[in-house]
Amino acid sequence: MIDLLDIRYVRLGTRDLDAADRFAREVVGLELARVEAGAHYYRSDDRDHTLVYFEGDPADHTAGFELRDADALQAAAAALSDRGFAVQAGSAHGCEQRQVRDYISFRDLTGNRIDLVVRPQHRGRRHFPSRDAGITGFSHIGLCSTDAPRDEAFWCGLLGARVSDRIGDAALLRIDPVHHKVALFPTTRAGIQHVNHQVAGIDDVMRAWYLLREKGVKIVFGPGRHPTSGAVFLYFEGPEGMVYEYSTGVRTIAPEDEAGYRPRQFPAVPSSFCMWGSLPDIPEFRKDPS
Ligand SMILES: [Fe+2]
Repeated sequence: MIDLLDIRYVRLGTRDLDAADRFAREVVGLELARVEAGAHYYRSDDRDHTLVYFEGDPADHTAGFELRDADALQAAAAALSDRGFAVQAGSAHGCEQRQVRDYISFRDLTGNRIDLVVRPQHRGRRHFPSRDAGITGFSHIGLCSTDAPRDEAFWCGLLGARVSDRIGDAALLRIDPVHHKVALFPTTRAGIQHVNHQVAGIDDVMRAWYLLREKGVKIVFGPGRHPTSGAVFLYFEGPEGMVYEYSTGVRTIAPEDEAGYRPRQFPAVPSSFCMWGSLPDIPEFRKDPS
């Protein structure tokens, strides 16, 4: 089994790097860490970067996850190849871009591009955000799934994730104590459905709600509270259809509670996404996924 230590970054294509850059810095509040030919790298915490916008197809998304060491990477490559996945070894240039010692890349059964990386760089210099959004770090993604039960079996089988809760067939998956690092959303396409950053507290969520409305950013869900993870959230629209989320107060499942933990089943209705009554303007949150 492949042991994912944590989610590490997302890489998103864009047709308008300047607009994406403005959004990442001025709206989300990320720190511009590095500019390369056709790509901007952003920090949200102590890590080298947690988000990349590169010039390319806006449907071209990659999520990166960290493995323990080179042996784990080699074993993961073999396990994926054995099951028929086309595994690409990372190039020296790719390692340089990602600031990792080594990586492999493959597509899951929906077609989502996944990087598995080892020894990703941290930075000694303190994260210095572009604005006072209260971000404490990149935390999770919503990931599209064209067959949620199939993809749940893959993520929980070969990739070692655990189901924390389900809304309809949409599984909220943990790979560490945090309630979810990947949320599978039943839909008809591949790609990252939303990008979550944690903020320090509910004050940051509410400050964002006022500030984003003032800036003319479309709020697509919230403010609200997820009954699953307990997090207070705000979702808003980013460039080229990407959804961004701030949230705070996500539940954790301690290692000593793992054995006795049972996922809860919620119906695919709005109150399963928000216990305060906010209604999502996000297609994947609205339709019955079953
Ligand atoms: Fe989320």
